[in-house]
Amino acid sequence: MSDMEVEEVSFLPGDTILHKKSVYEPTRHQRCQQLICSRTWAIVILILLGMLLVIIASIAAFARPECKVCASTDHCDIKPISTVAPKPEFIATNGKEFPWKNIRLPESILPISYDIFMHPNISTSVFKGRVKIMLDIQHETDFIVFHITDLNITDYSITASGSNVIAREFMEYKKNKQFYILLERSLKTSENVQLEVKFEGQLISKLEGFYKSTYKTKDGEERHIATTHFEPTAARAAFPCFDEPQMKATFRMSIVRDKQHVALFNMPLLSSKPATDNNLVIDEFQLSKRMSTYLVAFVVSDFDHISDTTKNNVTVSVYAPKDMINQAEFALNSAVKILEYYDEFFGVPYPLPKQDLIAIPDFAAGAMENWGLITYRLTALLYDPSSSSLSSKQWVATVVAHELAHQWFGNLVTMEWWDDLWLNEGFASYVEYLGTDVVLPNFRMTDQFIVDDFLVALNLDSLSTSHPIQTEVSNPDQINEIFDKISYNKGSSILKMLREFLGEENFKKGLSSYLTTHKYGNAKTSDLWESLQGVSGSNINVKDVMDTWTLQMGYPLVTIKRSEDSVTLEQDRFLFNPNSDEKPEFISPFDYQWYIPFTYITDKNPSHIQTIWMNKTSVTIEFDKSNRWIKGNVRLNGFYRVDYGDMWHEIIKQLQDNHKTFNVVDRVGLVDDAFMLSRCNKLDARTAIEITKYMENETEYIVWSTVITGQLKFLLSQLRNQESYQYLQKYIKKLISNQIKAVGWNDEGTVLHKFLRTGILDMARQVGHKETIEKGKELFLRWKTEPDSINQNIKSVILRIGIEFGDEDDWNFVWEKSKTTLIPSEKDTLVRALVYTKDVRIINMYLNRALNDTKITDIVLREMSRNPVGQIFAWQFLQEHWQELFKRYGSGSFTMTGIVQSLITTFNTQFYHDQVKNFFDNRDMATATRAVRQSLESITSRIDWMEKNSQLIGDWLKENYS
Ligand code: BES
Ligand code: ZN
Repeated sequence: MSDMEVEEVSFLPGDTILHKKSVYEPTRHQRCQQLICSRTWAIVILILLGMLLVIIASIAAFARPECKVCASTDHCDIKPISTVAPKPEFIATNGKEFPWKNIRLPESILPISYDIFMHPNISTSVFKGRVKIMLDIQHETDFIVFHITDLNITDYSITASGSNVIAREFMEYKKNKQFYILLERSLKTSENVQLEVKFEGQLISKLEGFYKSTYKTKDGEERHIATTHFEPTAARAAFPCFDEPQMKATFRMSIVRDKQHVALFNMPLLSSKPATDNNLVIDEFQLSKRMSTYLVAFVVSDFDHISDTTKNNVTVSVYAPKDMINQAEFALNSAVKILEYYDEFFGVPYPLPKQDLIAIPDFAAGAMENWGLITYRLTALLYDPSSSSLSSKQWVATVVAHELAHQWFGNLVTMEWWDDLWLNEGFASYVEYLGTDVVLPNFRMTDQFIVDDFLVALNLDSLSTSHPIQTEVSNPDQINEIFDKISYNKGSSILKMLREFLGEENFKKGLSSYLTTHKYGNAKTSDLWESLQGVSGSNINVKDVMDTWTLQMGYPLVTIKRSEDSVTLEQDRFLFNPNSDEKPEFISPFDYQWYIPFTYITDKNPSHIQTIWMNKTSVTIEFDKSNRWIKGNVRLNGFYRVDYGDMWHEIIKQLQDNHKTFNVVDRVGLVDDAFMLSRCNKLDARTAIEITKYMENETEYIVWSTVITGQLKFLLSQLRNQESYQYLQKYIKKLISNQIKAVGWNDEGTVLHKFLRTGILDMARQVGHKETIEKGKELFLRWKTEPDSINQNIKSVILRIGIEFGDEDDWNFVWEKSKTTLIPSEKDTLVRALVYTKDVRIINMYLNRALNDTKITDIVLREMSRNPVGQIFAWQFLQEHWQELFKRYGSGSFTMTGIVQSLITTFNTQFYHDQVKNFFDNRDMATATRAVRQSLESITSRIDWMEKNSQLIGDWLKENYS
């Protein structure tokens, strides 16, 4: 396959592509002269100025004034008097003061439409482009500011009312990624104005903007594609634009491509015509809907595709490398079903004629919801029924459902500014469960939501370094930073709470009204509340209630206090470190009080769910003496925790007598609340451990998953270096012994039972359960010669055991397999398993290999935290290679945060606390800034727990399990 060649100046015949330097310097000077020197009256002024200058120059011979118009100090004859030095923080690339001081663009000009011409040359890694932007002048103005970064502008022009408008001055301010043009005259609101810019850029593999991605065919041949990722602020790296979400416009696109390639855009192809060079084709695409810049996408590749159509006649296609297209079917079927479901659920049909889903070999996030052209990491789109696990199937369905939800929430209606990002991500994170449920009804997605979203959010939001869902953000680093668990998981959790108290029908009607009212436009959080209020017909004030959840951070702990014949419910903010010395940088407008829809059941009537509102206060409810317990936050529909005080003992007793009295989700709540209360010393740590004893009889995956990823993981990492660790292992072995027998090694049972098997066997591995390890080793050896001998769902555990207890040959065997497999989900499992080696030399070798292989760098660094020895080396490695990793990932959203957090959050000694702090002090952490602060807070709370509890728990374990 030959790569495309650059077609010299193919788009505007007669124009020469100039290089930045040649345009910037002489042209500015020429324009300056043309503008002023040609006018006779100016000469008079010049003479006067000149005379004045001589006088001033003689007074201050060293003063070197510059031309106010062109900023030149060297060539320009006009030398107005200016000795005021530009403010250092606003120096443009030409050395002048950048006149526009705001990181947001001026409101005087809005884009109406873009006409883009793009010519990427994949072999030289250069792209050339031209954009014509029609502008709407909102207020008379004589300057234009737009966004641009890492592009060379080779030429530009402005026309208004059909004639050219001369630019008096132009400059770029790199820090704010803005370009400023001062015009010779003002643009009137009535005028038709067009800005045309020609530019060049580099297709480098930096995973944002317009970049190059690489993959290998099954014959080992390397192939390249050109693709985009813009959200949140990288459209400006592909073409000059007004890169703010509320500056919506329509887009027309033309792409020059190699004959053998296929070009894709948000909209379907309109026409293809040959370019002057015979090997090239110009594809023109249909005009897009009105949309935000961050949702624009285009890809040039040699991929294959499969397609299908929805009931509403939308063509859905999945694109992937040819050798992988056989893994695209599940995604295609899911996408069709989910689109049809959303059409109905949202009450607004999907508005575009097509929806493409494309697998991109190098991709920073999991997926990106570009309107009509969704881009995915390979593992988030490709599923091979014969060799991928059920959890990878679930991941594909989830990501497909998430990004399709954005086609409405985000794309059709977009947040006005990034401070309301949660409207996009919280919604998609909630709706993805409904969508996944449609294609995987046996996966019990609503139950899984509790563990994967809700508990994760509660955890993070217990830190004083958390932030409110609605948070002010301005610069790109801050914007990237809020793509976090608060926007996603807390966002989805409070939407679920809202849906519960409004009722499903009202909720759906409200959403539909919101989408209809704001379609092709933008909205704020308050607009959503208004739409929901409008249809709810309820006397609940949606905005008042929800403001307490979105405008203040954290969440309440409802403490139940029992007296003679009543119980009092009190609310306080729940914090891991109530005495944290972090200075509060955020003051709550509601004094950390919430409107809480408190729901409860009692032992007398556990199926009768009652609700009482706590309206930023405490409440008292009648409670018959004969009742033993009350269980709050039924089915965990509310975003809060409950402390049962003295009643914990009754609850523990109930769990031990008959845990099934509580619904499975309620059991999750009970074990997690108890554990988290003990973490902040509100409940005796021994009581919290005791509550888990009932688990010997627990058979439900989501409860086990809660305890395995919560309490047990915490205790294992906290006591790792303590003498009591051996007793902890014994305790856990006892706890899981029934389940080890029950799950066995055969791939039987329901989906969640299969997930439980993996979880239990892996816990058995962690605590050194002999039979499990022996069996695992045996299966690993067998797998080496008979790759199909083990089931996909337990493969990850077997590989972990094989690597942990195997030798270098075993490691190399798995490594080689990971290099050659054409199944991304398999590669992922192999790469993750390799971190479990105990061999320090191999750990370091792997870290180095990972650094050089950009496709696995982030996974290996993050996963190393699962290996107690690996974690220390990976942390060391991160510090040593900080510069390089920061350059690669520092400006993105998830990657840096993920790596940093996973490697340092579980430290629990002052030594490591200080080491982390010293390392990051005075270092630019860009998008990981808050993550580091949160990790430090978490370390502090772990140190505190160690001081208060390690002895206590150690003694208890020793007493009971030695
Ligand atoms: N809009 C995001 C992608 C994104 C993330 C862009 C961060 C810019 C910065 C996308 O919708 C998303 O949330 N993807 C998730 C998928 C998931 C939650 C199912 C991802 O990438 O992990
Ligand atoms: Zn999303």
